[in-house]
Amino acid sequence: MAQGNTVIRFAREEDLPGVNELRRQVNALHVKGKPDVFKPGFSKELEDFLYVIAKDPQIWILVAARDETVVGFAVLHHIAKPENPFMYERDFLDIDEFCVDEHHRRQGIGMAMMDRIRAFAKEKGFRRVELNMWEFNREALAFYEAAGFHTFRRYMEWFPEPGE
Ligand SMILES: CC(C)(COP(=O)(O)OP(=O)(O)OC[C@H]1O[C@@H](n2cnc3c(N)ncnc32)[C@H](O)[C@@H]1OP(=O)(O)O)[C@@H](O)C(=O)NCCC(=O)NCCS
Repeated sequence: MAQGNTVIRFAREEDLPGVNELRRQVNALHVKGKPDVFKPGFSKELEDFLYVIAKDPQIWILVAARDETVVGFAVLHHIAKPENPFMYERDFLDIDEFCVDEHHRRQGIGMAMMDRIRAFAKEKGFRRVELNMWEFNREALAFYEAAGFHTFRRYMEWFPEPGE
């Protein structure tokens, strides 16, 4: 699937350094938006993690490539949780990470990747696609809503006043 001269495909080994450049952008965004949670910098450990998950048969890395340069990526994870006394069995495709390079946004690349993810979910027989996001990230929320996703669960927090 292509958007302009951008091709959406699964990642090859040689794409992984480019994917890590985008993961660095997402990490910086998270550090800025939620500095009490995210550690600044992009450690070697975070970089190496991509090479570990790339070998996991339950994880797929999708890229948007423009002239063989990675301009977008998504990490897709098959999650299977057995039934428990509270919940039915849950089996779904989770979008773990998602980013379009900051110099290539608002050109339809994110939506083209999402269309590919939906097609992949159907091919594989997943009946549900989930993702989670940080509340400060209003741009991502606008994008995910434009892509047809709905909020079904919330995390909330409260902080005591200093000295309380
Ligand atoms: C969110 C993100 C993936 C969107 O990718 P993109 O390629 O720019 O998105 P598209 O061009 O396909 O946008 C499709 C539609 O989504 C909505 N949208 C996308 N970005 C938006 C923004 N910044 N503000 C408001 N709406 C937005 C619009 O409706 C847009 O359609 P339009 O351009 O015709 O108005 C990109 O901004 C990004 O990578 N952000 C940083 C990383 C991030 O937040 N990742 C997700 C959380 S981990």
